[in-house]
Amino acid sequence: MTEVVIVPNPAAGGALVADAIVALVQRRPDAVLGLATGSSPLPVYEALRPHAALLRDVRGFALDEYVGLPAGHPQSYRAVIEREVIGPLGLDPARVRVPGDDLPATGADHETSLAEAGERYEAAIAAARGVDLQLLGIGATGHIGFNEPGSSFASRTRVKTLTEQTRRDNARFFTAPDEVPLHCITQGLGTILAARHLVLLAFGAAKAEALAAAVEGPVTSSLPGSAIQLHGRVTVVVDDAAASAL
Ligand code: GLP
Repeated sequence: MTEVVIVPNPAAGGALVADAIVALVQRRPDAVLGLATGSSPLPVYEALRPHAALLRDVRGFALDEYVGLPAGHPQSYRAVIEREVIGPLGLDPARVRVPGDDLPATGADHETSLAEAGERYEAAIAAARGVDLQLLGIGATGHIGFNEPGSSFASRTRVKTLTEQTRRDNARFFTAPDEVPLHCITQGLGTILAARHLVLLAFGAAKAEALAAAVEGPVTSSLPGSAIQLHGRVTVVVDDAAASAL
């Protein structure tokens, strides 16, 4: 079932989702959170700050990561997760994983290791007994994680090529457009659908079209976000502008 909650502003959406996470962690102190980067989940992380003491044993798995950025690059999703989530919420860095975070930095082993990084990530999620609550944003192409149009609904964590549009959209975070990596490693749509609860956040008019297509358009791999319609427990948190095409 998909529940759509329209909130007055992103902060109210963040508070609502933070309450759900707090309730989950009170039941299960070592809950497994699916973490997302991008601007959409930031109000959730902010609203969780006063509850940091509760979150000590929480485990986290990020949705996606760029491939090819130098270690420690401020725009790597590992760095973003450290800045926005691990640090302010006092999570244990060893309990938070990002796809590809176990790759040797360089050398001959790098390529082989990269090809198998997806399988290793899936195994780590399985060993943590799956994701309890997965946070999601949605891109202008309808992508979730970095699953661009055409991604299989059965896909699992793997290396992908970024579309030109997504590279352009994300160029604002880099000093030059060609600094945006060509590749990424992302959880697949099948990985995301295996989480027990999906929470999709979208704010602003720029998201209205992709959001409406994901929530009530045809279920199709040309709009990866529509995969959420195959899940039994989805909460969509939007402001009026993002809800305007529903
Ligand atoms: C990036 C991320 C996605 C994210 C999307 C939307 O491409 N890989 O996981 O959902 O951007 O970002 P924002 O929430 O900033 O609009």
